[in-house]
Amino acid sequence: MAKPYYTPGSLSAAHYDMITGLDVRLRGDEDIYAGLVPEGGSVLELGAGTGRLTAGLAGRGHPIVGVDISPTMLAQAQARLAGLPEEVRARIQMVRGDMTSLDLKRTFDLVFLPFFTLAHVPAGAAWKNTFAVVARHMAEGALAACHLPRIEVMKLPPPAAKHLPVMDQPLPDGRRLLMFVKERTFREGVNRLDQVLEYAVAEPGGHIVQRSPERLTFYMSDPTPLAATAGLVLDRDPINLGDVGDVWVFRRA
Ligand SMILES: C[S@@+](CC[C@H](N)C(=O)[O-])C[C@H]1O[C@@H](n2cnc3c(N)ncnc32)[C@H](O)[C@@H]1O
Repeated sequence: MAKPYYTPGSLSAAHYDMITGLDVRLRGDEDIYAGLVPEGGSVLELGAGTGRLTAGLAGRGHPIVGVDISPTMLAQAQARLAGLPEEVRARIQMVRGDMTSLDLKRTFDLVFLPFFTLAHVPAGAAWKNTFAVVARHMAEGALAACHLPRIEVMKLPPPAAKHLPVMDQPLPDGRRLLMFVKERTFREGVNRLDQVLEYAVAEPGGHIVQRSPERLTFYMSDPTPLAATAGLVLDRDPINLGDVGDVWVFRRA
């Protein structure tokens, strides 16, 4: 039985930073978000996870609040924070919360949802509620940004050989982390991609000692009509990120 991504004991969460670090399709995302906020401007990151971008933007001088729903991911963010220079750490606040209902009772110069975070919830009422949360936290003149997947990439078929890993990487302890795509189903009309990704840890001889099948679902839709319900309009053409997704930038109408 597959467990959801980012839950306790999941290998996706335990090795998130290594897996994400290998993903060339994310290269440059921090520069895009940094380019949307004035020098020293405050930032709210929804779906901050292990703090990959949170730490990066704080390092560039931005006070930032990182919100995530997963205690497992937030625990890793805390470990990352512990290794940062005190001056950078002082700019970061990590908060457990749900982006569909959050109310921090303050505003920011940039609100952003990186790496398909919005796509984790259904593209209907949950997106509307999230855009209302985004708008509520935007200061005068602030921008909002969300990175969403491209439908043509979501539609790609699963690999023909499910028993062959699509990722095989060494771990610091000499073992290897493998990833298999066990299921990948795209539902037309609702634009929903259901995946079961199985992570496995193999001994140096190849013997698999741990398996973790994990369910990851993405939803996609044109975000502009749902953003409009919160009074947000597109600020510019979507920014291509790695040919698999785009960063959609909004401002108040
Ligand atoms: C792909 S990760 C992005 C992590 C990090 N910001 C990055 O770019 O590497 C997506 C994150 O969204 C979080 N998430 C999913 N649904 C959420 C919700 N309703 N509210 C807040 N966070 C959520 C997940 O727990 C996960 O950490």
